[in-house]
Amino acid sequence: MNAKDAMLAELKARNPSRSLGQKFYTDPDFYRLDLETIFYRDWLFAGHDCEIPAPGDYFTMQIGDYPIIVLRGADGSIRALHNSCRHRGSRICAAPKGAVKRLVCPYHQWTYDLAGGLIRTRHMDAAIDKTQFGLKPVHCESVGGYIFVCVAPVAPSFEPFRAQAERYLSPHKIAEAKIAFESTIVENGNWKLVWENNRECYHCAGNHPELCRTFPEKPTISGIDGVVGDQEIKTHWNRWEAAGLPSVFLLSDSGQFRTSRVPLLDEAVSYTMTGRAAVARPLSDSVTEPRIGTLLLFHYPSIWNHVLCDHAVSFQVLPLGPMQTQVRTKWLVHKEAVEGKDYTVEELTRVWLATNDQDRRVVEENQIGIRSPAYEPGPYAPEHEDGVRQFVDWYCRTMQRGLGGAQATMSRVA
Ligand code: FES
Ligand SMILES: [Fe+2]
Repeated sequence: MNAKDAMLAELKARNPSRSLGQKFYTDPDFYRLDLETIFYRDWLFAGHDCEIPAPGDYFTMQIGDYPIIVLRGADGSIRALHNSCRHRGSRICAAPKGAVKRLVCPYHQWTYDLAGGLIRTRHMDAAIDKTQFGLKPVHCESVGGYIFVCVAPVAPSFEPFRAQAERYLSPHKIAEAKIAFESTIVENGNWKLVWENNRECYHCAGNHPELCRTFPEKPTISGIDGVVGDQEIKTHWNRWEAAGLPSVFLLSDSGQFRTSRVPLLDEAVSYTMTGRAAVARPLSDSVTEPRIGTLLLFHYPSIWNHVLCDHAVSFQVLPLGPMQTQVRTKWLVHKEAVEGKDYTVEELTRVWLATNDQDRRVVEENQIGIRSPAYEPGPYAPEHEDGVRQFVDWYCRTMQRGLGGAQATMSRVA
């Protein structure tokens, strides 16, 4: 049986109230199907508008086999290009970020403008039609300060996500923020284990002493079903919505993305050891009330996110292999906040650097246990793990549809 049929058979036979079978987390052929069906077809978070403020500023990323350049053009607009020279294919930009006037291939110096147009070919100008050899474009959209790319020839509509994300994010003015710090870690675990761990806080009390000082571990926060019945959260939503901050829990019909603003514990206003703000200057000039909890946003398969009054934190998930995933975390603050005066990087990053490392460890231990021939799928906690179940259901539906199998019915619609 080929990998596609093997995966479809496993998807059809799975028990939705239990974790996935071993091959979904270990098998190189299943991993390749994940790349081809999800990561090579859908929108992925690339980075923030404020990372490339001026024409010629760029950053690079690797999506499976696709190297990509994301850059700001001479006209001020943000574009993404395939980072593969049209001469003999060399990668053009190897650095993670930088600033250029033109893109010059290091191999034989073919030169492209900031829109990807070919403008110079050493000793070949007479021989080729430059209009036919521009860098290939990648679909690129930006919403609320977040840039997304899609390498598929035809991208799915970005509009449903844009409409929702724009409304929730726009008060926070993240396009005008700055990155105060970023960290990149590699977790030796399948990308789905990284997400499953993110989608529940059943593990928080036993693993995250720093985070648990401010973030409530109750299932109505991380879950799907319970949140709508939580009276305490409803009271906060009413107050925040009345103040012009979209807050109510909203899960897309597809199950792919969600926005929800939730309160932190007690008097806490930020993810610090004291609960006090990490940054003296609010992130947005238009949102100065500190007690706004945290705006949670996820978009499968590549980003989850927290936006507080004083800063925001984005987490980008990119698969590196069947059992290896990169997680890049960025802390955003007001662009005029001054390090050493308005904040210290140590205080700003302490909780999430510790939490990320703790999550890396639990994901890696999860992966080691799943590789055991003795592993078999186990039951989800009904109350605490319905977020995990929602993610896994989304994954299974997406794979079944993408592989051409019968479409699964949604087991949960919020
Ligand atoms: S491969 Fe880029 S100039 Fe030759
Ligand atoms: Fe965690």
